[in-house]
Amino acid sequence: MSLNDPITAPWWRDAVVYQVYVRSFADSDGDGLGDLPGITSRLPYLRDLGVDALWITPFYPSPQHDAGYDVSDYVDVDPRFGRLADADALLEKAHALGLKVVVDLVPNHTSDEHEWFQKALAAEVGSSERERYVFRPGKGRGRKQPPNNWHSVFGGIAWEQLDDGDWYLHIFDRTQPDLNWRNPEVRSMFEDVLRFWLDRGVDGFRVDVAHGLFKDRNLRDEKVDVTGDGPSSRHVASLLEHDTKDEPMWDQPEVHEVYRDWRRILDSYDGDRMAVAEAWTQTPARTAAYVRPDELQQAFNFAWLLAKWDAADMADCIRRTFATLDPVGANPTWVLSNHDVVRHATRYGGGPVGVARARAATLAMLALPGSSYLYQGEELGLESVDVPEELRQDPAWFRTGVEWRDHCRVPMPWKGTRAPFGFGGRKQPWLPMPAEWAGLTVEAQTGKRGSTLELYRKALKVRRTFATTAPREVEILDRAKTVLAFRRGPVTVVLNAGTRPVAVPKGKVLVNSGRLVDGKLPPNTAVWIRQA
Ligand code: GLC
Ligand code: MG
Repeated sequence: MSLNDPITAPWWRDAVVYQVYVRSFADSDGDGLGDLPGITSRLPYLRDLGVDALWITPFYPSPQHDAGYDVSDYVDVDPRFGRLADADALLEKAHALGLKVVVDLVPNHTSDEHEWFQKALAAEVGSSERERYVFRPGKGRGRKQPPNNWHSVFGGIAWEQLDDGDWYLHIFDRTQPDLNWRNPEVRSMFEDVLRFWLDRGVDGFRVDVAHGLFKDRNLRDEKVDVTGDGPSSRHVASLLEHDTKDEPMWDQPEVHEVYRDWRRILDSYDGDRMAVAEAWTQTPARTAAYVRPDELQQAFNFAWLLAKWDAADMADCIRRTFATLDPVGANPTWVLSNHDVVRHATRYGGGPVGVARARAATLAMLALPGSSYLYQGEELGLESVDVPEELRQDPAWFRTGVEWRDHCRVPMPWKGTRAPFGFGGRKQPWLPMPAEWAGLTVEAQTGKRGSTLELYRKALKVRRTFATTAPREVEILDRAKTVLAFRRGPVTVVLNAGTRPVAVPKGKVLVNSGRLVDGKLPPNTAVWIRQA
């Protein structure tokens, strides 16, 4: 199998993967939370949109302290989202429609309600039950100080003390104890979990916090020059900074052994099963290590998401992406939004300008070789929402008082003129939907000239015919500082990040994110042009 041969290339090479945030996609039983049967009922929408696959966020049994990223049983379905049979039905229908299905795997931590953690709590200090997690004695007099100086990504210290004095590590919420990946039991449990879902027919996994599994063996202090216990934004911000930070809790070399094992398991199944790493490492080169030939197939390219609305920044990111992936022979991925970040329409300034820029950036992205990840609702031009304080649910909000992620998790508007816009039920769902979304529903945008939904449909359709067969080489063209332009074989892509209209090369316009004016490309717009 060659990655570069269009006939034998694996399905994921150029796949457009649509992220479904379970609780906010479609609610079949009207309880205000999305669910698996809801997703199944909307699969034809995804097929018609033109994506190749969906990634479904965690739907496993969970107390839902972190929207399902706190798993209490890895091989079942949370009753709020359905039953195991609903997962099977979803897989079957997706496959019948030609869609692949990627599920989320959360190996860094379990829920505190997981059977293992419950047993650890009941067992003694130093017991084998506690060895599955990261328990340590405290420091100082009476062992009242935490074992080291690490902070939780969600704010506050990363340790919790039990009544018997022992402390456990939680890099995220207190209800998400970190597993001890130096314990072979942990490794073998996850191998079983992989096989369980592979046997049921999933096509791949999105590996949550893939860079987190191993911690420095001695759990040594992190060298820091800042004080205070605000939110540790390093998880997200590190890529923006070029100086390397000391991170004894992230990206340890041992983690790669695990992915080599997983790769062997994936390869032992038919159908090009894959895994994509969520690895917020410090540099693109560090992320490239996760996609070496015998490790995972993909890693999210967060550098693209973090690039500013700036042509030089975007061009730089594209160049760097290839420069770091080519040496390991891996295929790029691109992503602009997900359930953890500000929606890109809002990030680029919000309002009509933000939406125009978001459309342009997406169009440029979809012309690049490799796999693109879309986040539900971006095809409607949705923006992040101001969720009232008393309704916020993100554990990071509770730990820091900073609104971090609820804004991008508001449910999908499907149809009608009043909330919940066909999402399900009669009332506002778990996070309320803004009245202004009446004009942005799938129904309102379908068949509407110039709508964001129709732009996505068209771009995905054109992409199918050209992007997968066009040469993989991307030639960045020298243009004005404020214009991103690149060529892939016969197609030239131009994105205008400046303030004045710019000329575009002659040729056939394949798809454009906004109207050309007198043959020129206005600001905040992108176009694909085929030259003879
Ligand atoms: C990942 C998920 C995020 C979750 C965290 C802890 O970053 O994307 O939503 O809160 O891991 O599992
Ligand atoms: Mg429901």
